[in-house]
Order: sequence, then C-alpha cells, then structure tokens
Amino acid sequence: MGAKPPLRRFHQASWDEPLLFELSSPGERGVQVPAPEVPFDDALPAGLRRQDPPGLPELSQLHVLRHYLRLSQENLGVDLNIDVGQGTCTMKYSPKINDQFVRDPGVAELHPLQDERTVQGVLEIVYRLERMLAEISGMDHVTLQPGAGSAAIYTNVAMIRAYFAACGELEQRDEIITTIFSHPSNAACAKTAGFKVITLYPDADGYPDLEALKAAVGPRTAALLITNPEDTGIFNPRIEEFVRVVHEAGGLACYDQANANGILGITRARDAGFDLCHFNLHKTFSTPHACGGPAAGACGVTDALAPYLPRPTVEFDGASYWLNDDRPASVGKIRPFYGVIPNLVRAYAWIMSLGAEGLREVAEIAVLNNNYLMKKVLEIRGVSAPYAEGRRRIEQVRYSWAELTEDTGVHSDDIGVRAADFGTHYWTSHHPFVVPEPMTLEPTESYSKADLDEYAAILAEVAREAYEDADVVRTAPHNSTVHRVRPDTLDSSETWAVTWRAYRRKILGE
Ligand SMILES: Cc1ncc(COP(=O)(O)O)c(C=O)c1O
Repeated sequence: MGAKPPLRRFHQASWDEPLLFELSSPGERGVQVPAPEVPFDDALPAGLRRQDPPGLPELSQLHVLRHYLRLSQENLGVDLNIDVGQGTCTMKYSPKINDQFVRDPGVAELHPLQDERTVQGVLEIVYRLERMLAEISGMDHVTLQPGAGSAAIYTNVAMIRAYFAACGELEQRDEIITTIFSHPSNAACAKTAGFKVITLYPDADGYPDLEALKAAVGPRTAALLITNPEDTGIFNPRIEEFVRVVHEAGGLACYDQANANGILGITRARDAGFDLCHFNLHKTFSTPHACGGPAAGACGVTDALAPYLPRPTVEFDGASYWLNDDRPASVGKIRPFYGVIPNLVRAYAWIMSLGAEGLREVAEIAVLNNNYLMKKVLEIRGVSAPYAEGRRRIEQVRYSWAELTEDTGVHSDDIGVRAADFGTHYWTSHHPFVVPEPMTLEPTESYSKADLDEYAAILAEVAREAYEDADVVRTAPHNSTVHRVRPDTLDSSETWAVTWRAYRRKILGE
C-alpha cells in the first residue's frame, strides 16, 4: 500500500474573541446610509415606527471582517478538513461554482411573492430538477418543497396517511414498520403523524430480517419505511421481497434513499417496487447541509399517490411554467413558497455538470472509496465492523471501537476528539446507538486516495496512542481552540444561551 503518509502538524488559532455586541463602539459604522429623501416619520405610519433604535452593534467593516475571520480560524469547516467522519450526516464537497449561480441576481434578487410570470427561470429549474430526480428514482412525480430529509420523510408519511384516509382505511391501518438501522427520522415521523411504529432488528447475518417482517405485516400495516443501504452501509439483498410482502398485506412501501451516494444510476426505488421515496439533496446532490437549517429534500411518488403531493405543484403547459394550487386532495403546504431555491439551484447545477454517466461514476467512486477506507480501518487494532461481518458495504460503515475500549478504557468519543488534534472534524451521528462505541465513516466520492490514507493514518495513530499512552487520548483535544464542551451545560436550560439576550441574562447575570 506504499509509504505511510506523514501526520499533519496542526494547531488551531485561539483569539479569545468577544461578541460583536461587546465590540460595539457608539457611532462606528460599516456604511453611511444616505439621508432619505422623504423623512422616515412622513414615510411610515406612526403605528409601524419603532419607539427605540434597534440596539444593533455599531462596527466598522474592518472590525466585522476581522471578527468573522478570527471565528472562522477557530472552526474546522468542511472545506478545511478531511470530513469523512460525519457518518450518516455525509459531508461531500459543494462545488463553489454552484454558489456563484445562486448569487446571480436572477436568483438572489427574486422575491417569493413575485408573480409567477416573472420567475419563469426559477420555475423551469424546479420543474426540470423534479423531472431529473423522477428519472433517477424511477418515480412518476417529485416534489421539492421539503426543507430537509426529515421534512421529506414527514411529507411521505403525510401522503401515506392521506392515501389511506381517501380509501377509508386509515382507522384500520395504523401501523408503520421500519428497521432499527433505518434513519430514526423514519420512526419519529411515523409516530408524529399518529402511527404506531414497529421496529425490526437484523437477522443473524446482520441483514434486515425478512422473517420478522413477515411476522409483523398484516391488515394494520399502513407502510414500510426503510432506509437502504441502511446507516450501517449494508444493502438489503432482499429489498424487492420486502416490498412484495408489504404490498401483499395491502401496505405501501416507502424508500428512504438519503443514502444514495453509492447507488446513483445503479438501482432505482421504483424498479424495486416502491410507492414513495425521498432524497436528501444535501447528502447526495452536493448542496450544503446547513446544520439542520434550510437544506433540501425531494419526495418521489407513483401516479397513485400524486393527488396527495404538497401544493402548489410546478406545472408546464408547453409555453410557460405555473403554480397549481387547485389540488383538493393535497397534504397542503410543507414549506412556504416553492422550497429552498438556492439549494435546488445548486443540486440542478451539480446534476447538469455530471450527466447520467457522471452520476453513476459518483456512485462507483463512493463505493470504491468506502471499501478502500474500510480495508485500511479494519487493519487498525481494536476496531471492527459489526453486523454482516466480512461483507462489503456500500457507501458508509458503522464501525465499533468496543474492543479498544475494553483493552484501554478509551472511548470512541475520546478517539474522535483526539483525531481533531490532527486537523480532522470530530464525528457526530451514529443513531440509533445500537453499535457499541460507534464510529460512522462515509468518504463519498469527494476525497482522494491520499486523503483517505491520511485519515486512516490519523485513526491508526490515535489507536496506537490509546494502547500506549491512553491519557493522551482521554485528555484530548490538545491542539484545538476549545477544550471539551461540557455536555451538562448544553442539557440545562439554565446555562444554554442561544441569543444575546439569553447570554446576558444567564451568563453575565444582568
Ligand atoms: C438515511 C437518512 N435519512 C434521513 C435523514 C434525515 O435528514 P435531515 O438531517 O436532512 O433531516 C438522514 C440524515 O442525514 C439520513 O442519513
């Protein structure tokens, strides 16, 4: 495998940077706003005028710039590190050219309340992106309204509920089946929508358990919600059989295709018989995840479920694009207006830049990268890949450091934090926490062989340290700006301050 890559020397900047409000100096300005031609008092009715100034920080441009640059140096952003450790959150590269398209005044300066005749370009992008995702999933119709993956799953569950309500079967069909290694948003959305949830555990081979499914389905089954490949990276080899069993019981099959990085252009939800599916545009189509903020999700459905799609739908009559609000069976609005347009533009640009063959190549590289990294990681002492042991994975793997923990007392979290001392981001999500001492890695197609070698070398070094000098790992990080965040401060509403006002009250005691 060649020479071991050198470990990077890394030390994060530490600025002890005050808040913008604390830096504020009365009278300092970033821009001089020209005096209005009509005095404000005449332009605005008295009831709309504030009594007091808004209390914003007063700063020059340079002070603002310096503030944010300093903060950015205390961050381990996705463009700065080999970010394969976010596991099921997936951090792939978001091409910068796509941001340029989004900043184009033709996109950035549109108002969502504009007359649809004046936003034809954006409606065309939405329409065409829907058609492309319909082709990629095999579904008949797609909506791009949901603001992220969980919102898309909820949209699908809402459509399932509307479908059975229309058939007069909702009272009878009150159960949704999922699997433990499907993303937990599936169970959560089903429950939120009022269904009872049945969760299947893997069979002895580590695969989703077909016999357990057969035992669980029946006249009360509304749907199967299943992630495939699951968050372990295992692809269900009997997925069509799962769909058949649920259909025979009269239920619907709904595919969480958020883990689509390794199957793009290779398998399609509809070809496996599914009635509904969803993609996370931020996990697969290169748009930013936005930290739980405005990401973008896409739901695909068959003709039978189309009446229930969120409204308005974007239609094309051969000459122009228009919004169809006249949809009486629709589940309604999932998000205001047409969805998160900047991310839809990015996803559209990404797909257009790759084409059908490029998408398939993305999947092939994502799988190759994952299996290459898996081979290297499994050579490290103390780590294993439980469930379906010895089998290849698709695009991610949920590893376990349980053996290393037993040998050394060092936990997976300690290893993740110590890895940050070498300039890589700490890992975050491994829900459900069924695999002990979990570590979920997804390299995607974005990272090179050299990147993966470097990442594996960091993990090998931290594991070596754990066996030889466990305290170095246990007391990490040593090179980061912030030492460990005490989780108890995050858990207590007494100390958790998410706004400036809350900070002044709770932390400064004002
Ligand atoms: C397989 C799968 N489904 C659903 C979700 C939920 O998506 P989101 O975080 O956008 O709500 C995720 C999250 O990454 C996921 O990995």
